[in-house]
Amino acid sequence: MIWGLATSHVPAIGAAIDHDKTEDSYWKPLFDGYAPARRWMAEHRPDVAVIVYNDHANGVGMDLVPAFGIGTAESYEVADEGWGPRPVPAVTGAPELSEHLVRELVDSSFDIATFNRLRVDHGLTVPLSVYCPDPGDAWPCAVVPLLVNVLQYPQPTAARCYALGRALGRAIRSFPQDLKVAVFGTGGMSHQLAGARAGLINEPFDRMFLEEIEHDPESLAALSREDYIEQAGTEGIELIMWLVMRGALGDNIARVHDTYHVPVSNTAAALALFENLGDEEIGGRAAA
Ligand code: DHB
Ligand code: FE
Repeated sequence: MIWGLATSHVPAIGAAIDHDKTEDSYWKPLFDGYAPARRWMAEHRPDVAVIVYNDHANGVGMDLVPAFGIGTAESYEVADEGWGPRPVPAVTGAPELSEHLVRELVDSSFDIATFNRLRVDHGLTVPLSVYCPDPGDAWPCAVVPLLVNVLQYPQPTAARCYALGRALGRAIRSFPQDLKVAVFGTGGMSHQLAGARAGLINEPFDRMFLEEIEHDPESLAALSREDYIEQAGTEGIELIMWLVMRGALGDNIARVHDTYHVPVSNTAAALALFENLGDEEIGGRAAA
């Protein structure tokens, strides 16, 4: 596993890229903030990205809401969210890695739903565009979608997401093929799209979270779902997906870059990029 990226997935970020508005005064500060991370990631291309995300009742209906799921398809079409699908390439899957991860995680007592067919919405495609704004005909890496229910009560706890991430990291490292894997944790930061507190931005909470996701993820895993919703807003609970990424990375990481910007739509948007220094390379950099 080579790196982990946490990023907001606000649909308007994708629309700004699709409609060439990234240099407009509203958008430029956000995209300028991404630039160092993008340069670094372009030099560290993964073979596969495991993208931890939530569908927003676009590709997956609300008839059946699994807590966790993994896509196992050869490829994933881009969902139509009401304005036609985004003009971005279909997403190529990594079915052998997907099947390995499902098996390992089920054996680790995480009962993972399997999505043999899936259309991916902004929750997955916007983070891909944050990584690679100009993919041309194909994204630079294959993708394993890992879905988390953040929409319907009771969402999995932050502690469960962190534990899933630890198990995911072990599962990725035990894959017999020599693959470079990146893990994306998506969503957040603080936002609430509806109700009396619509537009809620809690910068002190977001800044605390951005700091502790590196240094003390256990303290974030100890927060309840009610803490997340109270502090970060009804949609701010998407931040539990960052903990899956963080758990997978393990203990030996370095922050490459981060950026925080308000507002994007009604949302506090952030990016945090971590290089994985350790992994299981016994005798390698981890032990140095
Ligand atoms: C917005 C943010 C989201 O995370 C989302 O899924 C949809 C919309 C927004 O701020 O507009
Ligand atoms: Fe969202």
